[in-house]
Amino acid sequence: MATLEIKDLHADVVTDEGNKPILNGVNLTIRSGETHAIMGPNGSGKSTLSYAIAGHPKYEVTSGEVLLDGENVLEMSVDERARAGLFLAMQYPVEVPGVSMSNFLRSAATAVRGEAPKLRHWVKEVKDEMSQLDISSEFAERSVNEGFSGGEKKRHEILQLALLKPKFAILDETDSGLDVDALRTVSEAVNDYKSNNEVGVMLITHYTRILKHIEPDFVHVFAGGKVVQSGGKELADELEADGYVKYTTEAAV
Ligand SMILES: Nc1ncnc2c1ncn2[C@@H]1O[C@H](COP(=O)(O)OP(=O)(O)OP(=O)(O)O)[C@@H](O)[C@H]1O
Ligand SMILES: [Mg+2]
Repeated sequence: MATLEIKDLHADVVTDEGNKPILNGVNLTIRSGETHAIMGPNGSGKSTLSYAIAGHPKYEVTSGEVLLDGENVLEMSVDERARAGLFLAMQYPVEVPGVSMSNFLRSAATAVRGEAPKLRHWVKEVKDEMSQLDISSEFAERSVNEGFSGGEKKRHEILQLALLKPKFAILDETDSGLDVDALRTVSEAVNDYKSNNEVGVMLITHYTRILKHIEPDFVHVFAGGKVVQSGGKELADELEADGYVKYTTEAAV
């Protein structure tokens, strides 16, 4: 049983023109076994929250805390955060030309596990996960994300999730750009991972569609750089019907 606590988190994005405050006092606690959906308008800071937790250098935490089982995540390097069990599937996965997917995955697994996975087991593990995600074996030799379609990138993020086995997974719009079949395949992979591992999931999404596949225990409205409302599944339906107006005007005052 693990707990990820975000307490009164304030963070800036670092730009050439100086720092710009984005997160404005985020409070959220996720326990292993729970899935929390985060929904909110464009530009409200959802990706900023995920980057701040993962330790992206362009985001600076100005106050507040992120604790993983009481340990201060903000003092950890990006590597240490991954080793501690944090995982981020990015909204816009980066391309790494010249590094093959298979080398990248093995290096990442070695870094997170603390030792290189035994080759024979590893090859089988990767193959099984790739086939579950309907990823053709030719991708193993392609450069990381280079020339991948939007949906292919998203599938590879979930492949990393399945192989790196985090305690907490932040999935930032993993459903965006997936066709109907891919959405089902990716959701099944996430659900499989959830049922076989004690994982806490933060699922950032704009659509209730994915929540029909991956059931959230909690739904949070994110507006103006913080969580402004929390509820159960029904809150997602309410948002779909009514939009965010109510929350954006409240957040603005
Ligand atoms: N380099 C930057 N320079 C200026 N503003 C930035 C920079 N990076 C991010 N921002 C601003 O920070 C705000 C929060 O962005 P963020 O990506 O966290 O939003 P989001 O909630 O994830 O939106 P979306 O739903 O569209 O993904 C936005 O207004 C964005 O324009
Ligand atoms: Mg975003």
